Amino acid sequence: MKPIILTGDRPTGSLHLGHYVGSLKNRVAFQEDYRQFLIIADAQALTDHFERPEMVRDNVVQVALDYLAVGLDPGRNTCFVQSQVPALCELTSYLMNLVTVSRLQRNPTIKEEIKQKGFDESLPVGFFCYPVSQAADILAFNADAVPVGDDQNPMIEQTNEIARKFNSIYGGSYLKEVKAIVGSIGRLPGIDGKTKMSKSLGNAIFLKDSAEDLRRKVNLMFTDPNHIRVSDPGSIAGNVVFMFLDFFDSNVQELHELKQHYQKGGLGDGQLKKRLIEILDSLIAPIRHRRMQYESDIGYVRKVLEDGTREAREIASEKVAEVKRVMKLTYF
Ligand code: TRP
Repeated sequence: MKPIILTGDRPTGSLHLGHYVGSLKNRVAFQEDYRQFLIIADAQALTDHFERPEMVRDNVVQVALDYLAVGLDPGRNTCFVQSQVPALCELTSYLMNLVTVSRLQRNPTIKEEIKQKGFDESLPVGFFCYPVSQAADILAFNADAVPVGDDQNPMIEQTNEIARKFNSIYGGSYLKEVKAIVGSIGRLPGIDGKTKMSKSLGNAIFLKDSAEDLRRKVNLMFTDPNHIRVSDPGSIAGNVVFMFLDFFDSNVQELHELKQHYQKGGLGDGQLKKRLIEILDSLIAPIRHRRMQYESDIGYVRKVLEDGTREAREIASEKVAEVKRVMKLTYF
């Protein structure tokens, strides 16, 4: 039996190159050695987007399309919709008894998000408690591992605290502690050079972008403002095109020579951007192509979600039944 991974995304937009670098690429590799569950966390997305239900709903299918397009094989991955697995809600409500308000307030991830979103006095309880719901997602599937970005590590710690507390109170090993697989690759900046590529910052290159969109976005990237003539020496630091080449150009030797040439002078921004466009398009073109094929058969995509969700429901229900037995919630 393969070890289990649980991971997923909030459906608040279609996925972009930042997702590819930070998680999707790894997931494609993980599907060889792990049994992978992919949660499309629509209920979690509602915790801070409850006033935009259509947006969340529409993006469930968009995210599923992106999963299929990057090569996540439905035969080896179980892709499911969170809100359609009510056992996750049930488990969340029982686990909430084991978490204190002050512990949640100290969770660095949620603390930072509350600040960023400027919730102040209007913090929804649902949003505040999403780490507990996320722990339930993980624990319901007996996951062995969760791949995380560095900012999500506190979520894993919180999950394991809950598991340990549950097991020690009820005397058994009912909930399984999970390991974080911390990605080796860093965070992709946006096309504006800001530290994070994000749909809401408007600086993303989407996996579904056309060749034309891609070209336009790369051409918008800042290089070195002092590199005016081709013959001028250019600088690498803060040069967005080089930031991207560092992530995507697999020809390390050539890239190194290119950097030297640029710094010496004589290498134009246009040539540099052309190289980046070619490299990115060779990555995105097959994804875009597969995505279009699946888009023309949305019925199939829905079926993948439906089958995955049915399977997820069975597994999560068993876990909740066990938790209820242990908590003496059995009567008839
Ligand atoms: N928090 C994740 C995101 O923002 C989505 C998610 C929900 C998740 N439940 C999870 C990720 C459990 C890993 C494990 O995209």
